[in-house]
Amino acid sequence: MIDVKSEIIKKVSEEVKARLSNQESGHDWWHVLRVWNNAKLIAKNEEVDLFTVELGALLHDIADWKFHDGDDSAGPKAARGILEANMVSPDVIEQVCQIVSMVGYKGAGVTTDMATKEGEVVQDADRLDALGAIGIARTFLYSGHKNRLMYDPAQPPVMHESYEAYKKNTSPAINHFYEKLLLLKDRMNTKTGKKLAEGRHAFMEEYLAQFMKEWEGKE
Ligand code: ADP
Ligand code: NI
Repeated sequence: MIDVKSEIIKKVSEEVKARLSNQESGHDWWHVLRVWNNAKLIAKNEEVDLFTVELGALLHDIADWKFHDGDDSAGPKAARGILEANMVSPDVIEQVCQIVSMVGYKGAGVTTDMATKEGEVVQDADRLDALGAIGIARTFLYSGHKNRLMYDPAQPPVMHESYEAYKKNTSPAINHFYEKLLLLKDRMNTKTGKKLAEGRHAFMEEYLAQFMKEWEGKE
């Protein structure tokens, strides 16, 4: 018998790969692949529906607002289209679209609690890829893509109290560590996510300390 679910996962992954292969490389197919792998790893220790988790991970960045004129509805809409084309059941479609619409970071002072355990797994999987060596690389890539400075001592980090303010932000790459990346460790949902986030967090702290020493010509 054909395993319908794994056939759907394969089809959806191929579609996502085709659509995101030209994307800026912090949000491209390789990011999705890493998040998919993280999600499968985290899900091993959680009681979740793996099919929903995998679809959520695969589709979470299918049309990010950052690359769609700030439109938050582009992601869930694109996800729905792909899921419908693959005959996924309506209840799974609802769950996955909810994950896609809620998963993103929205500013230091904005809560981003997920409505389901499956959503918590996908959010942790996505956030792990924002941390550590890869997280650092993605941050400088994104800032470069946006023509922003890597650092400006005259621009202190801002703890955004609203999603709108966070979205409008154009500050240098180093600020993003303080405005998001270093805050994620204490906002992880799952045991596995928390454990992996700790090591990646420590690596970023070390990196920032070295960056500042070099900036000041001390090392
Ligand atoms: P999430 O998927 O956690 O909501 P985003 O899609 O907003 O995260 O961002 C993913 C990654 O893109 C960030 O972790 C960072 O590396 C980079 N990025 C996003 N916004 C910025 C920014 N303002 N400055 C620098 N890098 C950014
Ligand atoms: Ni992502």
